[in-house]
Amino acid sequence: MQIALSADRQELHLSHGNQVVRFHGVWLRDNAQDAATRDPRNGQRLITLADVPADCSMSSARQDGDTIKVTFAADGKVVSFCPDWLRAHAYDVSRDTTPGRLPEGTQAWDSALSDHMPSGDLTAMQGDKAALLRWLNAMRRYGFAKVTGLPTHEGNLFDIVDLFGYVRETNYGRLFEVRTEVNPVNLAYTGLGLQAHTDNPYRDPQPTVQVLACLENSAQGGENMVVDGFAAAQRLRDENPYGFNLLTAHTARFSYTGSDGVALHSRRPMIELSPDGVLQAVRFNARSAAPLVDVPFDDMPAYYAAYRRLSTIIDDPAMEVQFKLTPGEAFVVDNTRVLHARKGYSGAGTRWLQGCYADRDGLLSTLAALEGTPA
Ligand code: FE2
Repeated sequence: MQIALSADRQELHLSHGNQVVRFHGVWLRDNAQDAATRDPRNGQRLITLADVPADCSMSSARQDGDTIKVTFAADGKVVSFCPDWLRAHAYDVSRDTTPGRLPEGTQAWDSALSDHMPSGDLTAMQGDKAALLRWLNAMRRYGFAKVTGLPTHEGNLFDIVDLFGYVRETNYGRLFEVRTEVNPVNLAYTGLGLQAHTDNPYRDPQPTVQVLACLENSAQGGENMVVDGFAAAQRLRDENPYGFNLLTAHTARFSYTGSDGVALHSRRPMIELSPDGVLQAVRFNARSAAPLVDVPFDDMPAYYAAYRRLSTIIDDPAMEVQFKLTPGEAFVVDNTRVLHARKGYSGAGTRWLQGCYADRDGLLSTLAALEGTPA
């Protein structure tokens, strides 16, 4: 490894063969790892930018054993960096800039996932960190996983949330009932199916994890199905980049005012990208879509065409994974990504599910902490 400063002394250059990785002085100073800059116990930064000199030019940079020592010209402060740490945090890299890229650690899926549906047994996950890690990793990868082996009493879904975080309570309560008794006298009656949707897009932030646990399911039909919203968004992008761009570039609106004292409104895009183009969230819910008023007049027809195409893609059976829960089973979705639906049901019997929301950041935090645990 060769260490050099740029001619203006504003950049550190590390060379391996003919590959050069550059770092700016201001970035190095802000990311110093010494005890005066970062608390050694919790890793939190102890300084603000006001403590960083406006001029972060460097007077020298040299190798000292296993570290690189950088001296800043303004105040003579010497900061040591581990070369591996610098390599791991390099930002002078070529990047994929394709809009609609998947977030790291995720994988798009379609109906083929039916053959290897991610699932975990509750008792196994409660007692075995490796089993929990596998399930959490599936949640991060696919945004969807089943849980089996639940006790069949009310509130069993909280046992799932306890694995990784906390319930997010809403105006629907700590949990909500999804209960229908099919009228056996009138077999013509059919429980309505619901189009695949994400829940509660009218909240901001929307609930990021949804758990649905089955207590009874003896009705005919009533299967659940899930669709990967990221896969649907990518399919739209590949077919119609212009339409995809419209759905990402303009905000939609969602509302719920169905209960006394509740008036929930949000203004967010149907397909949300980070500023660098990575898929962040899909919001799709015809029932709570409010009038679109943020789309420019001239773009509205093309926006609706893209919205309609996204809806058709979501309804395509090739995109969906379908399953019927039995009592003691549940499924969990990343509600920022995976849409869920219920097929119609009919005939004698009951269907009783309980649902609740939780937070995805807690789930990912539990996963990251487990991944960091030495085996
Ligand atoms: Fe729902």
